[in-house]
Amino acid sequence: MKKQFLSLLLLGLIAVACQKPGTNTTSQNDSGINTKVEALLSKMTLIEKIGQLNQYSSRWELTGPAPEGVDSMSLYNMVKEGKVGSMLNVTGANATRKIQAWAVDSSRLGIPLILAYDVIHGYETMFPIPLAEAASWEPELAKKSSRVAATEASAVGLHWTFAPMVDIARDARWGRFMEGSGEDPYLGAKMAYARVKGFQGDDLSDETTMAACAKHFAAYGFIESGRDYNTVQIGDPTLHNIVFPPFKACVDAGVATFMNAFNTVNETPATASSYLQRDILKGEWGFEGFVVSDWNSIGEMVPHGVAVDKKEAAYKAITAGSDMDMEGNAYINNLEELVNEGKVDEALIDDAVRRILTIKFKLGLFDDPYKYCNPEREKVLRCDEHLAAAKEAAKRSIVLLKNENDLLPLKKDGLKIAVIGELAGSKDVPLGSWRAKAITNSAVSLLEGIKNVGGSSSIRFAQGPAYTEGLRSFTTELNINTTDRSGMSEARLLASKSDVVVIALGEDCWQSGEGRSQTDISMKGFQQELLEEVYKVNKNVVVVLMNGRPIEINWMAENVPAIVECWHLGSEAGNGIAEVLFGDYNPAGKLPVSFPRAVGQQPLYYNHLHTGRATNGEGNVFWSHYTDQSKEPLYPFGYGLSYTTFDYSNLKLSTNELTEGGKIVVEATITNTGNVAGEEIVQLYIRDLVGSISRPVKELKGFEKIKLEPKESKVVSFEITTKDLEFYGASKEWKAEPGDFNLWVGPNSAEGMAASFTLKKMN
Ligand code: NOJ
Repeated sequence: MKKQFLSLLLLGLIAVACQKPGTNTTSQNDSGINTKVEALLSKMTLIEKIGQLNQYSSRWELTGPAPEGVDSMSLYNMVKEGKVGSMLNVTGANATRKIQAWAVDSSRLGIPLILAYDVIHGYETMFPIPLAEAASWEPELAKKSSRVAATEASAVGLHWTFAPMVDIARDARWGRFMEGSGEDPYLGAKMAYARVKGFQGDDLSDETTMAACAKHFAAYGFIESGRDYNTVQIGDPTLHNIVFPPFKACVDAGVATFMNAFNTVNETPATASSYLQRDILKGEWGFEGFVVSDWNSIGEMVPHGVAVDKKEAAYKAITAGSDMDMEGNAYINNLEELVNEGKVDEALIDDAVRRILTIKFKLGLFDDPYKYCNPEREKVLRCDEHLAAAKEAAKRSIVLLKNENDLLPLKKDGLKIAVIGELAGSKDVPLGSWRAKAITNSAVSLLEGIKNVGGSSSIRFAQGPAYTEGLRSFTTELNINTTDRSGMSEARLLASKSDVVVIALGEDCWQSGEGRSQTDISMKGFQQELLEEVYKVNKNVVVVLMNGRPIEINWMAENVPAIVECWHLGSEAGNGIAEVLFGDYNPAGKLPVSFPRAVGQQPLYYNHLHTGRATNGEGNVFWSHYTDQSKEPLYPFGYGLSYTTFDYSNLKLSTNELTEGGKIVVEATITNTGNVAGEEIVQLYIRDLVGSISRPVKELKGFEKIKLEPKESKVVSFEITTKDLEFYGASKEWKAEPGDFNLWVGPNSAEGMAASFTLKKMN
């Protein structure tokens, strides 16, 4: 009966039975889809509708605490009864086909499931963690990585990724820093837009694309004291001017879904916030996709203390615009009763169902629910082409922080190179956290990369004291070795007999990610001691940093001659890093985040407000500073060196007065003053000197990455219009306020050529 209905539906309304997957244009035709959605909706019982709002994880792969009362058998039965609309954490063309068949063949209406997974920076081919990739300042690169990730994930039957994570982060104590694009809303918005385009392509029904999900709406990156799942207190201007822009960029890119957040925002859980989900997202921004809760974030309203039980939580969440309940059991167990009691209007449920069905139609799942489950396509996983793309992304995400006396690049012949540190030998750490189906130990280690690229150099390895001990995994706490020093003297001896030491230090990848907040962001275990021991016997030290967040590296920055920020760079990390170390690729990345001098500076970000006492005019203590440490970052946002040097000159503004509808063309000449070709990321910042509310000391408003041959010059130009000057101010709307502005064009947020202009009063 149900199969008959589905066939009729498909034949009668779609009439596309013979089309090949990906060529069905009707699935992109919104009015056609609306008709199909309405037809289907009219056949659904209330509980079937609520079923569409219900999502469960497979029981064999959990990415959060398992809720009570759902085992594999009950899940199977619920899918067959049409009480599940989506599942997460089912992967593999065969497994997804099997589970899809439960829904399509056995439920009354045969509505396909939408299958989701956290494909954050690759599926099996791992790309740099998103924070690292943001250091490339190349949205096109991020788009390409996401395209590859979607190609792999869609080949194993997945339709939907819980990415991009676009939370602006300002506090390095937060473990999820690694998942986003750093501290800046402008750069964050560019990367967010590109990633959505990469995952979704131009046509959701194409079998190599998947629905993207902008998360976590909103302000998760502002959790107090960097402790995961904690409270957020945030002012309206910061919410609008800093937190929202990357989310809005996702809407502009046509993102299919949003995920809300665990945290409260000013005392209201984001999941219960009508302001966020209805007024802003679905109202002001006109978002037509659906919102999924975060893992049991509806149920978590009970411990948050805003609902007495899950029934009240369900009421609050559906009212506020949360369309799908991830792993919470709150909707499926309570919404029917809430409707029958007249507390929830069925129209709210219809709206959520419509949104979900629409995305399922757009994905083409009603044309062929199995179109993504094709074992033949699985051969794309970790194919050579994808690995080559991963290597390209890896090297382009590297930031050269220090290079005294041109220690780098290293010569490829005749050098005795000591490679030191557990991270240098690790084939696992570079894969990063939130690594989808990366195969354990499948990355090219730094040591392997150096051997691959290092020519005839003599390359020796010493691990030094073990960094971690015991189980390393996504779901367990990491154990850092703090007792066993063995390996220290071997490392020291090797360093003493070598010409140069390449030492990998920083963080194991399981130190960052969800649930991995830290109060101490310095190097853990014996790493600092190992560095100092090695440095005592050999001053030619190159530190390769591997980390998922900014870390404290003051001693290193002061003492060792070369530091290369290499984050967690994915499957091809070692090859990418080695190409930089030996000069096959001239590093060009710039920091997407300020590097602190001390954890006590957190939250630290370049686009802060000006205090009333920013400088010490009188030599006394009464100004905004620390008495034991500089208030400035160790390395500012936007900072990064190259094997060449760039000169900035000739800053010109087409006019110093901007009027409504007009523009200022800003030009600067950049010259490669060194002897090798290199790329430079030229950055434009502004400051609005006086506003209806206090404005940041600097705001990024443009950037361009250019390549220059030795001695070559290029003129880089930016355009400034009133749109670029708009912000959410005292009037509670986005608008530019007339007055004076400063402007800088430079290599990072702390340096640059300065000019000023005036925005004339508008009518
Ligand atoms: C919780 C995380 O916050 C979210 O980002 C993720 O997508 C879900 N778990 C599903 O794994």
